[in-house]
Amino acid sequence: MINLVSVSKSYRQGNENYKALHEISLNINAGEFVAIMGPSGSGKSTLINIIGFLDNNFDGQYNFNGTVVNELNRRDHARLRNQSVGFVFQNFKLIRNQSVGENVGLPLLYAGLKRRDIIARVNDVLEQVGLPDSYDKLPKNLSGGQQQRVAIARAIVTRPNFLVADEPTGALDSATSREILALFEELNRNGTTIIMVTHDENVARQTNRLIRILDGRLQSDVEVQHAGS
Ligand SMILES: Nc1ncnc2c1ncn2[C@@H]1O[C@H](COP(=O)(O)OP(=O)(O)OP(=O)(O)O)[C@@H](O)[C@H]1O
Ligand SMILES: [Mg+2]
Repeated sequence: MINLVSVSKSYRQGNENYKALHEISLNINAGEFVAIMGPSGSGKSTLINIIGFLDNNFDGQYNFNGTVVNELNRRDHARLRNQSVGFVFQNFKLIRNQSVGENVGLPLLYAGLKRRDIIARVNDVLEQVGLPDSYDKLPKNLSGGQQQRVAIARAIVTRPNFLVADEPTGALDSATSREILALFEELNRNGTTIIMVTHDENVARQTNRLIRILDGRLQSDVEVQHAGS
């Protein structure tokens, strides 16, 4: 599904060019649950922003299901993003003065669905993430873990090809982190491809594949062995 060929990325920092990614080549298949780890500043967010179609300004080639992503114009790149990927962030990024249901339904509103269909789909995914009957609540009245569930509902409501999560448990206590991770595992079991950045070895151990990045380079890429399986 995802195929990166020698992808490099430089940022302008003042008058200098800073190379944040060095010739990354990588394949990710549909159905995988991938963890990306590495020290702060190693290039993890830079990498997943390219993979998740937020950034199309890089060297090398990105093939996505037969489309050469780096050759798309701005509009087609944005369309690919809207249709193919769901994002989950550390700080949830919910809209404060909108209800849970409105937050989750926003991508469907952008996609042009009818109000009645939106409400039905939103209630379905809210139930899927363990938050039935919360359409009319406000995010601020929910716990951190519940807010992250809302963000996950928003990420899956368009039925994207894959999810990108940048430290989704970074702002949560360890018990809540385990619950959120269990939700990701369930989504993955049901066929959702997930690429997740984490600083937590315990979180990474629950995935199927661990990619380590160091100084913008692929350091290792191994299958995760699960005890007893
Ligand atoms: N917009 C930007 N402009 C200039 N430099 C940037 C920009 N974004 C990132 N960088 C630099 O690129 C490098 C990689 O940054 P990136 O955010 O990908 O790291 P990261 O691995 O996600 O770190 P963290 O774990 O702290 O989130 C860093 O040195 C950072 O300073
Ligand atoms: Mg980051």
